[in-house]
Amino acid sequence: MRISENILISSLTTMRLGGPAKYVIEIEQPAEIPEAYNFAAQQNLPVFILGYGANVIGHDDGFNGVILINRMRGIEIVTGGQIKIMGGEYWDDVVSYTCERGLTGIEALSKIPGYAAAAPVQNIGAYGQDISQTFVSADVYDSAAGTFKTLGRQDLNFSYRKSALNTTAKGRFFVISITLALKHGQMPRPFYNSIERHIEEHAITDFSPQSIRTIVSAIRAAKLPDPREKASAGSFFKNIYLTAAEADFAESKGYPVHRGQDGNKINSGWLIEQAGFKGALLHGIRVSPTAALVLINESATSYADLAAARSEIVTKVYDKFGYWLEQEPVEITNK
Ligand code: EPU
Repeated sequence: MRISENILISSLTTMRLGGPAKYVIEIEQPAEIPEAYNFAAQQNLPVFILGYGANVIGHDDGFNGVILINRMRGIEIVTGGQIKIMGGEYWDDVVSYTCERGLTGIEALSKIPGYAAAAPVQNIGAYGQDISQTFVSADVYDSAAGTFKTLGRQDLNFSYRKSALNTTAKGRFFVISITLALKHGQMPRPFYNSIERHIEEHAITDFSPQSIRTIVSAIRAAKLPDPREKASAGSFFKNIYLTAAEADFAESKGYPVHRGQDGNKINSGWLIEQAGFKGALLHGIRVSPTAALVLINESATSYADLAAARSEIVTKVYDKFGYWLEQEPVEITNK
């Protein structure tokens, strides 16, 4: 267990905002998890579980508490096509590993920044796949009960960018490892629109996991900022999911509604673009010129800058279309 004091949250998160955290504890083996919670409890400090920091925003006043980071690594093929991944593995290394072995199920989730432990928390998804489709179980530490347990897919209650881990049981479980069920084979067709377009443009006929990984990597590289080069938290807003009646209403107004297996949605990127923000610089925050859902911290120096930019976007989209954009990244706060 490695304890550090007064670490800037800006240095632990890809949006690069946020003041000091009182303590950061890096967990190197499961037995250290209860020790870390005891350390926090003894000082009456709250705990925040952080991974790679790719979807987390810090506040200017930092965090008067203990940040836990999973540093446990390892990938193991269990029998029956199941693969067990320690939570501190970098997610894209996991995808690379499975694609190299011809396993399908997470190839479309290539290049998503973050740790494996975070994948089920927000049910990461892209290009038609999300982690709920292959998730089997997670070994966790239950901080409320003070025990280690295994949670199955029913326990997690997955939906779009949601699971029990970020809703009903938010902050309660420290994810030690996750187990996924992958198969030898290929993703079913039709693929997500942008993959189909890329395949046609480049006359690609190989749809193996490795090839889809190459395609997704190219699509992402052309649109999404690499968090190592540009400060960003990826999509800053969620897409808008609509009931059947809401979808009919939206269409009557001429808005593009996508009706898919996962429900009816309006792309928030489209709303932001139509509201005139694509490429705009607001309070040091750049609305990505290639994907309007993504905000890049170009020169913002405070959370307040981000909040001001967010407010301008959210308000204008609401005034123009009547939809409230919901933020995707979570925040570390003292509240
Ligand atoms: N669109 C626009 N203008 C834009 C961006 C998008 O009009 O500037 C419209 C277009 O119609 C486009 C459609 O939105 O065809 C979909 O865009 P895209 O495929 O880029 O996906 P997205 O809905 O903007 C979601 C995820 C991404 C994920 C992609 C690909 C969320 C919040 N975001 O974005 O996830 O990579 O789909 O599947 O669901 C992330 O969460 O950080 C993330 C990058």
